[in-house]
Amino acid sequence: MTPGRPKILIYGARGRLGAAMVRTYAAHGDVRALGRAESDLSDPASCANRVRAEAPAIVINSAALTNVDLCETERDLARTVNADAAGALARACTEVGARLIQISTDYVFSGQAQEPYAEDAAPEPISWYGQTKLEGEQQVMAADGQHAVVRVAWVFGPDRDSFVDKAVQTSLRGEPVKAVADKWSSPSYTLDIAGALRALFAPSAPGGIYHVCNRGVCTWRDWAEEGITVAAVLGAPVQTRTVEPLRLADITAMIAKRPVYSPMSCARIEALIGRPMRSWQEAVADYLRLLDEEGRLRAD
Ligand SMILES: NC(=O)c1ccc[n+]([C@@H]2O[C@H](COP(=O)([O-])OP(=O)(O)OC[C@H]3O[C@@H](n4cnc5c(N)ncnc54)[C@H](OP(=O)(O)O)[C@@H]3O)[C@@H](O)[C@H]2O)c1
Repeated sequence: MTPGRPKILIYGARGRLGAAMVRTYAAHGDVRALGRAESDLSDPASCANRVRAEAPAIVINSAALTNVDLCETERDLARTVNADAAGALARACTEVGARLIQISTDYVFSGQAQEPYAEDAAPEPISWYGQTKLEGEQQVMAADGQHAVVRVAWVFGPDRDSFVDKAVQTSLRGEPVKAVADKWSSPSYTLDIAGALRALFAPSAPGGIYHVCNRGVCTWRDWAEEGITVAAVLGAPVQTRTVEPLRLADITAMIAKRPVYSPMSCARIEALIGRPMRSWQEAVADYLRLLDEEGRLRAD
């Protein structure tokens, strides 16, 4: 390892968030990018051995079985990947003196709150995905209080399409855009998450639970409409400007229950980085500018 450049192992390296972290941290450390082919979390023991062999300073686990509906039917696999593998990584990290940064989710909450969830709010998952992610958090924190659990929400960014990309694409094709208007959370831009999490590389940074998302609260419909509006301002040939509201209860294809209201307040990470996370609207605008520069704001 080059002095001053920590060795950083990133699980989920080809996922939406993991890929953004691999790119961002290449300038700051010796990054080892691990996808399923290199280290499969359905075999927690072998992943723990990998951590012992690599002896990194930081391990980031952004991998998960993220298909919320699939988790309802593939229950054992979801628990192994989302909970037991996180625990195995955490214990191996403790053995080699590494900090684990375990990425988690707003789906650990029931969604019955009236205001954004604080880091110490009581989790109460209503889906198997949320339950297994919570068990992962618990196993990580039981291994060592110096590890960090980082809850993010509606993740978007340049490495894998997400909800906002699909809304803009649908509008570019001139098709009707419809989105749920009675479910609220906080979009989380991958580049903003990656930037904020660098503060956790300092050994002096406290462990425990952090919330990292962009500021503000919106519905999927607000998010879609903002994306389309910004794309139009950038000169993209969007055709559908209005997003038709849907009710969550009408989306019968969803198997798992989703929390209705799960925005999160980010006080702990904001205190650590010494500034507020920027608003979700600023993050969406920045993201669409990036897509525009890359020539990606046109119909597929
Ligand atoms: N997306 C969201 O809106 C959202 C919201 C809240 C929290 N989160 C959390 O944020 C983190 C990152 O999510 P994301 O949006 O980047 O999801 P993503 O794009 O689905 O990435 C997840 C990654 O995990 C990998 N993975 C799945 N099973 C694996 C296994 N058995 N072994 C090794 N790798 C495996 C996947 O590999 P393959 O590509 O090979 O499948 C994928 O690259 C996750 O912990 C998720 O729970 C996401």
